[in-house]
Amino acid sequence: MEIDGKTGLIGLIGNPVEHTLSPVIHNGISERMGINSVYVPFKVEKEGLEDAVKGAYALNILGMNVTVPHKNQVMEYLEDIDEAAGHIGAVNTLVRMKSPDGKDATKAGYKGYNTDMLGLRRQIREDGISLKGKNTAILGAGGAAKAVVYMCLSEGAKTVYLLNRTVEKAEAVAKAMNAFYAKEAVIPMALQDYGKIDEKDLIVFQATSIGLAPDIDSAVLEAPAFYEKVSVGVDLIYNPADTKFMRLVTEHGGKAYNALKMLLYQGVIAYELWHDVKVPRDIVEDVYTDLKRKMYQKDNIVFIGFMGSGKTTVGKELAKRLKMNFLDTDSYIENRTGKSIPEIFAKEGEEAFRRLETEALQHLRDTVKNTVISTGGGMPLKRENAGLLKEIGRVYYLTAADSIIYERVKGDSDRPLLRGSNPYERIHELMKNRAPLYERAADIWVDTNCNDLEEVIARVKEDWAQFGNRTNEQL
Ligand code: ATR
Repeated sequence: MEIDGKTGLIGLIGNPVEHTLSPVIHNGISERMGINSVYVPFKVEKEGLEDAVKGAYALNILGMNVTVPHKNQVMEYLEDIDEAAGHIGAVNTLVRMKSPDGKDATKAGYKGYNTDMLGLRRQIREDGISLKGKNTAILGAGGAAKAVVYMCLSEGAKTVYLLNRTVEKAEAVAKAMNAFYAKEAVIPMALQDYGKIDEKDLIVFQATSIGLAPDIDSAVLEAPAFYEKVSVGVDLIYNPADTKFMRLVTEHGGKAYNALKMLLYQGVIAYELWHDVKVPRDIVEDVYTDLKRKMYQKDNIVFIGFMGSGKTTVGKELAKRLKMNFLDTDSYIENRTGKSIPEIFAKEGEEAFRRLETEALQHLRDTVKNTVISTGGGMPLKRENAGLLKEIGRVYYLTAADSIIYERVKGDSDRPLLRGSNPYERIHELMKNRAPLYERAADIWVDTNCNDLEEVIARVKEDWAQFGNRTNEQL
C-alpha cells in the first residue's frame, strides 16, 4: 500500500494492543477495495484517553476502534452515542461525526457504537441461529455478557438466563436490561443453580474469559446435566478455535461455534461506518481466510503419540523436506540435565521426569521456531502439557492400531515398557488409558496404519500448508 497526502487514518486505542488482529481485517479490506486508508494500533494509557480522543479528532482520524480497558471510559469523551451502545454501556467503535453535506459537524467529535454486539448478531444470523421466541442462557455477566443480553433481547428471545459466579453482578445487569425492555425476560442466577432451568434446547453464549488459551482445558461450567439442556453453544472466545465449552456442547449432541466471525464482522461493520461503503461478500470471505491463518498459524510442528507411532521417523523426514529443524524432547531433556532418561527415572522417579518435561516445554515455547518436535510418549499425560504443546505448535497425533504398534516395536529390546511377560497386552492397556489424553492434546489426528511414510508425510504437509507459518510455495 502506498501512503500519500490523501491517505486516511483509522486505528485502535487500547492497552495492550500488541497482539491485535484488527490490522489484518482493516488493511486487508482497504487493499482489496482499493481504498486509500491505513489502520494503525495505538497503545493508550488510562490517563491519556481523553487526550487521545481529542488528538485523534485534531489529526483528522476517520475512526477508531476502542478495546480493553477503555470501552466504558471512552464514552465520557464522545459527542454522541448510539442507542444500543448506550444501553450496553460499552463502545468499541468511534465514528467521526459529519454533517449531512459530508463536512464535519459543528459538534466536533466522534459518535460511539458497539459493533461487538452487531458483529455477534451478524454471525448468528449467518449461521442460521434464530433467537426469536427462544430460551437463551449466558454464562458470565461482565462487559461482553451485557452486549449479548442486549442482542438476545433485541432479537426477540423469550428468556435470557444470566448465570454468573457473582450473582449480584447478574442481578444488576438483569435489572437494567429488564427496565429498558419493560419486561422480565432476563433471569439472573448463580452458576451452580443451572438445575433450576427447566427448558431444553437452550441457545447458550459463553461470555467469560475461562477457557482462553493457554488455559484450554477449562470451562466455567462443566456439569453434564447443564449441557444436556443445550442445543446450540456459542463461545465468545476464538483462541483456541475449539474450546472446552464447545467440546462439552458437542459431546452432548449440540452444535458449537466460536466467535472468530464475530471478530471479523465487528471489524467489517466498523469499516463500513468509517468509509460509508458496503464491503462485498467475496472480500469479507478473503479477509476471513487471512484472519484464520493469522490466528491459528503456528511456528512449529509437534508430534504426539504412542511409542512406535512414527513420531521420530516421520518427524525427521518431514523436517528434512520442509527445511525445518528437528528436535526430540527426550534428547532435549537429556542434554539439558546431563543425565539419561533411564537414569532420571531410576534416581528421581517418574514425577520428577514429568516435571522436567513441563519445564522443557515452557522453555521450547519461548525459544523454538521453524522446528519439528517429536515428543516422549507420556508427554500429554499431564494436563498442563497439553496446553503448552498447542502453544508451541500445531499438534499432530499419529495413530495406529494396537496390533500395528506391536509389530513395529516387538523386536526393540530398548523399550522398558515391553520387558514384561505379555507386551501385547501391555500395549493394549496403555493405549486404552492414553488415547483420550492424546486426543485431548491434539489439533489433528493422522492415521499411520497404512505403514506408508510418503502417505503420512503427505497428510501432514497438506494440513501444515494451511496452518504453518510459511508460504505454500516453500512447502
Ligand atoms: P468482559 O468485559 O470481557 O466480559 P469482565 O467484565 O471482567 O470481562 O467479566 C468477566 C466474566 O468472567 C465475569 O462474568 C466473571 O464472573 P464474576 O462476575 O463472578 O467475576 C467471569 N469469570 C472470570 N473468572 C472466573 C472464574 N474463575 N470463575 C467463574 N467466572 C469467572
